Amino acid sequence: SMVRHYKFNVVMKNTTRLCSEKPIVTVNGRFPGPTLVAREDDTVLVKVVNHVKYNVSIHWHGIRQLRTGWADGPAYITQCPLQPGQSFVYNFTITGQRGTLLWHAHILWLRATVHGAVVILPKRGVPYPFPTPHREEVIVLGEWWKSDVEAVINEAMNSGRAPNVSDAHTINGHPGPVSACSSQGGYNLPVLPGKTYMLRIINAALNEELFFKIAGHQLTVVEVDATYVKPFKIDTIVIAPGQTTNVLVTANRGSGRYMVAASPFMDAPIAVDNVTATATLHYSGTLASTTTTLTVPPAQNATPVATSFTDALRSLNSIKYPARVPLEIDHSLFFTIGLGVNPCASCVNGSRVVADINNVTFVMPTIALLQAHFFNIKGVFTDDFPGNPPTPFNYTGTQPKNFQTVSGTKLYRLAYNSTVQLVLQDTGMLTPENHPIHLHGFNFFEVGRGIGNFYPKRDPKKFNLADPVERNTIGVPAGGWTAIRFIADNPGVWFMHCHLEVHTTWGLKMAFVVDNGEGPNESVLPPPPDLPEC
Ligand code: C2O
Repeated sequence: SMVRHYKFNVVMKNTTRLCSEKPIVTVNGRFPGPTLVAREDDTVLVKVVNHVKYNVSIHWHGIRQLRTGWADGPAYITQCPLQPGQSFVYNFTITGQRGTLLWHAHILWLRATVHGAVVILPKRGVPYPFPTPHREEVIVLGEWWKSDVEAVINEAMNSGRAPNVSDAHTINGHPGPVSACSSQGGYNLPVLPGKTYMLRIINAALNEELFFKIAGHQLTVVEVDATYVKPFKIDTIVIAPGQTTNVLVTANRGSGRYMVAASPFMDAPIAVDNVTATATLHYSGTLASTTTTLTVPPAQNATPVATSFTDALRSLNSIKYPARVPLEIDHSLFFTIGLGVNPCASCVNGSRVVADINNVTFVMPTIALLQAHFFNIKGVFTDDFPGNPPTPFNYTGTQPKNFQTVSGTKLYRLAYNSTVQLVLQDTGMLTPENHPIHLHGFNFFEVGRGIGNFYPKRDPKKFNLADPVERNTIGVPAGGWTAIRFIADNPGVWFMHCHLEVHTTWGLKMAFVVDNGEGPNESVLPPPPDLPEC
């Protein structure tokens, strides 16, 4: 193993998309940002220097951060943000993980343009559990707003209503030839006939689940969220913000140009940003003037297309990569996910849209929770987050709930090394989306999923405890539930939230605190000396 050094300069950069130029926040002037490459077991040191007028922090999404929670990155959860002019070295070791993840800003809506790939190669000499691809390519999916993204969310917070949607989706930073203004600079993937390529696909969009497909080519799925899966072939994958998927593509068409499409998935046909981003897979030797073979993206409400992908995901569960699913459960939790409307005196409309978990709308603290926990600073959070909803839950799918949410900075305390089962139940009242719920600091297994109510007496009997998929971000189906299991083997304070940024803003977030403080490995390590202060 080795030590890898990176320098991330956070700088403004004038960038042109959709015929207009605007200054955006970037790392090293690039959109998407630079790819961080390391091997399993390497130590990574990223010096981040903030040259912009915003406070900044960077999150290494999906990196376990065993006992190094200070390097996790969510602002006011594990660290105070870097103020203008400040710098901080994120220092972490990649333990027991290999595959594709992403890094992104974790404050306000800066991750719209501040994001990039994390590529973790296997240990030197260790092959992939599938044929070695001829070449690997990173494919970062995203969104583009013509207006200033921070203004979009500020305006929404003042009005108390939903923010504007983006103007385009992007593939490696470009909408592709979907409008007169985006015909230049679409992403091009060159291939040689007969060779197999691995695409490391990342959804870095703020608020959109996306379908991804390539005209005339099947995708062999081999990994999600940096865990190997049993390989399977499929035409279309679905990927939520924060998720990653590695696929193999064999260039078996001989020649030609083929459309690559990223299009939005939602469970209801709402007229929002439904523009498909496109790129081109180009066989070497094919003239640039050759007509591109097109593909029709799935309809925006094509739930069966999404479900046939998610239903096929299984852990590889081989001798080398066993699925260690907890069988005995110490903490059995049931969290409802809801959206509601609370009164708001300062809002233009007198009320504001809120989101909650178990009826708690999370309030961000003003100093970092991990600091408050480590230094035992009182009054920053309480550890009374409810393990069950306040009233028995019954999903009807037709009526909004008639109670207001409770606001607070509430954490749930987990014993170190305890096992956890968490059922996430969507109440699906106001929006039709799936909620991609992301847990920091852990991978978990998705042992079950269903539509409608979760029934504790019926549904656990059907759980897959043998080879459930292992992830860090899971789509909770609209009007349905998912059950996850994990071992609380990482001391610290760990954020859990919806990775649709608009829902996080509305309060769809909470945190776990894991620490017995008794043994040498049961506590987070001391903070690094350059950790920013609030
Ligand atoms: Cu990818 Cu808390 O984030």
